[in-house]
Amino acid sequence: MTFRHRHLLGIEPLHPLEITELLDRADHYATLNREGRAPRDVLAGLTQINMFFENSTRTQASFELAGKRLGADVMNMAMQASSLKKGETLIDTALTLNAMRPDLLVVRHPNSGAVDLLAQKVNCAVLNAGDGRHEHPTQALLDALTIRRAKGRLHRLSIAICGDIAHSRVARSNIMLLGKMENRLRLIAPPTLMPSGVAEFGVEVFDDMEEGLKDVDVVMMLRLQKERMDGGFIPSEREYFHRYGLDAAKLAHAKDDAIVMHPGPMNRGVEIDGTIADDINRSVIQEQVEMGVAVRMAAMELLARNLRAERTGTEATA
Ligand code: NCD
Repeated sequence: MTFRHRHLLGIEPLHPLEITELLDRADHYATLNREGRAPRDVLAGLTQINMFFENSTRTQASFELAGKRLGADVMNMAMQASSLKKGETLIDTALTLNAMRPDLLVVRHPNSGAVDLLAQKVNCAVLNAGDGRHEHPTQALLDALTIRRAKGRLHRLSIAICGDIAHSRVARSNIMLLGKMENRLRLIAPPTLMPSGVAEFGVEVFDDMEEGLKDVDVVMMLRLQKERMDGGFIPSEREYFHRYGLDAAKLAHAKDDAIVMHPGPMNRGVEIDGTIADDINRSVIQEQVEMGVAVRMAAMELLARNLRAERTGTEATA
């Protein structure tokens, strides 16, 4: 089985074998990146446009670098200054860009579902770089690759996802991916930050960190998404850190060799203690950033392969 999608909009439609194929390819690119030998011809002749309607540091930089390492022509649209501000709809912007014939469109948008909608209007490959609280597939894939490299496998692990799960597209994509790969998932959050309908996910739910972290292999911390809250979700940041912030005392309940993850950007002293985040024996946060580039290279390569096959197929039958 090979990865056979036109777009990468979410983890939901992916088969476990497709996930494995993508991770294997990304692992290969991680090695080439370390050796400074990324092949410049893989995306040569293709145009990649990055459209970020929400702020981003690492995801945008990572997609840009991934495209450039594989030889694509990469353009970053400054969406803050775009015609959207003049009242143009998302669809009109998409159609305008589509007319410029890009091959890969990387989109981040504050509204859940906006990237899916856009994908229906264009004839290039679309990659979801995060839509509202819906999905962030490349983040889940880079997390999976980081876990697989640290633990030597991506199944039958006990993994805790902690913090602001309700507002997190990272959590949603990770729950789906890690569930598909048959891991045991534990969600730890105050009841106000636990999504409704969580029982359907096939996970264990905790509101106490010490109980939830007991004997886990992986501790995945999430940022408090204040921009998606309209007040009243937590009593105070100080109180939140006391009960849900990851510090040495709480981490002591996990396995001795448990790894600590965070997708960034981190609020030190709110969801994670700075010394834990910087502890190179426990934290794989920098490795996550490194794997981000490799995963995005692999994702764009596979989509470009499918796009080229589709185009040649169309030409052949035309
Ligand atoms: C995440 C995002 O934007 O969803 N960050 C990221 O992509 N590295 C998580 C977050 O913003 O907290």
